[in-house]
Amino acid sequence: MKKILLLAGTRPEAIKLAPLVHELRQRDWCEVYLCAAAQHRKMLDEALKVFDLVPDIDLDLMMPNQSLCQIASRLFEHLPAVLREVEPACVIVQGDTTTAAIGGLCAFYEKIAVAHVEAGLRTQNLFSPFPEEVNRRTLSTLTSWHFAPTERARQNLLREGVSNARIHITGNTAIDALLSVMQYVHSVPTELMPPPGKKLILVTGHRRENWADGLRELCLGLLELATQRDDVHIVYPVHPNPRVREVVYSLLQDKPNIILTDPVSYVDFISLLSESYFVITDSGGVQEEAPALCKPVLVTRESTERPEALESGCAKLVGTDRYQLLKVAGELLDNRQAYHKMVKMESPFGDGRASERIASALEQEIL
Ligand code: UD1
Ligand code: UDP
Repeated sequence: MKKILLLAGTRPEAIKLAPLVHELRQRDWCEVYLCAAAQHRKMLDEALKVFDLVPDIDLDLMMPNQSLCQIASRLFEHLPAVLREVEPACVIVQGDTTTAAIGGLCAFYEKIAVAHVEAGLRTQNLFSPFPEEVNRRTLSTLTSWHFAPTERARQNLLREGVSNARIHITGNTAIDALLSVMQYVHSVPTELMPPPGKKLILVTGHRRENWADGLRELCLGLLELATQRDDVHIVYPVHPNPRVREVVYSLLQDKPNIILTDPVSYVDFISLLSESYFVITDSGGVQEEAPALCKPVLVTRESTERPEALESGCAKLVGTDRYQLLKVAGELLDNRQAYHKMVKMESPFGDGRASERIASALEQEIL
């Protein structure tokens, strides 16, 4: 039996690693340890609960308003002891968070092989998204097995000199997670439901590079949209980061057709997405989920590491200028042809079997 340790710090890591934890637990060649760094506390716990997962090890690292260096230094302080105790054959990290990057580095320092789920995403801009582009590049330099969701991600890794033999194209585990909860997705919670005849627009926004101006522009754009039109019902589950909450609540809390709420459960979020007319977001995961549910997605960023969604036609980069956002949102609301051009029937990010492929590839690599 080989020991495998999966490390999850934030909500999206919990969602995207959950299907892999379950898949690996069905295989008889490995013993699985789920380690929660808890860079996020409440959001991580809520996401794990949806998938019936309880961490085997919990570092409980979150502090209110933590800086990137604080969370990194706490990981460096506490993770190596766990790795020495468990002695896994491999540490699996996901994506591009501080937990993933520093967790990978700790494993590397302890001479433990690192497997990277969702490897090879790039914008080619070190500062957007910040600090995620550097986190994922750092991981690619020390990873033994790169699980790239798409061919484009594989090409990015090859360009940086990663050996083709170490790359496996798997699809994104986000789609595995999405398909696994679809049977529980029913209706939107009553308090968030749009009144009859109104179109639901779902919004999320939290990226660090947008804190200075982008988030304010997003809010002012939404305020204008909600003022100009009485046919929209905007639902915005607000990220608990105080830097985000302050801006969003101060600008949007008094508008009757903008509903601000705490983060909702993953199942409720997918219900909202399924019921929405379209989604406005700077989230990575939501850019993957929206196309899989045939929902147009307006990306409030200057660049995206998920160009597959743009190419397939279901996503548009709208940047962070409020007038551009208003223009594109208005067009989607008024022009049925423009709207239907963005409703695509295929997901560019996988078929829901990524975890299966990752587990099989790992088995071959490790045994
Ligand atoms: C992190 C990731 C980002 C990911 C996002 C997902 C990094 C550098 N950034 O950003 O890639 O897209 O998570 O949401 O790793 N907080 C709570 N409760 C929670 C979670 C957060 O109160 O359950 C508050 C805390 O005050 C915390 C703050 O939010 O200090 C910021 O969280 P943090 O993990 O540092 O960064 P994010 O901006 O959330
Ligand atoms: N999500 C959720 N509840 C919410 C908002 C988002 O469960 O209120 C889910 C969403 O479905 C997606 C993930 O959280 O799977 C995205 O997380 P986030 O935007 O925080 O991080 P990113 O994907 O940008 O790294």
